[in-house]
Amino acid sequence: MLTLAIIKPDAVRAGKAGKILTHLESAGFKIRAARLVQLTTGQAEAFYEVHRERPFYRPLVAFMTSGPALALALERDDAVARLREVIGATDPAEAKPGTVRQLYAESKERNAIHASDSTDTAAREIAFFFPGRELHELA
Ligand code: CMP
Repeated sequence: MLTLAIIKPDAVRAGKAGKILTHLESAGFKIRAARLVQLTTGQAEAFYEVHRERPFYRPLVAFMTSGPALALALERDDAVARLREVIGATDPAEAKPGTVRQLYAESKERNAIHASDSTDTAAREIAFFFPGRELHELA
């Protein structure tokens, strides 16, 4: 099963992308596609459309367009639920010890990584970043 992760601009800017990738691979995820993207405002607005009415929407769009981010299609059994466990709670202050956000996130907004929240969302988010692309077969 596949899910989508985004290593966010705070983590890429701080040089933490490699450590986070190692963490994900050590947790059993295989990289099936990867793309370093500089999102436009329109793309970030579309990606986070579900949050449009939330007070953090504009700051979130501004943050997600503030620098390059690394989009990843990741494969593992039960990938969606397992990745959410591995990354931890949205707010790093509430994330369990050893989770990606507890280790690498700066704040609830600058929280290092995004992960799809359901299999339906994962399919939509993978298509958003990797449209019409064949995901690499595992060896
Ligand atoms: P993410 O998993 O990318 O999905 C939505 C993002 O909104 C979330 O991570 C946070 O980075 C960001 N965000 C900022 N403020 C809040 C908040 N108060 N509640 C939830 N998410 C927030």
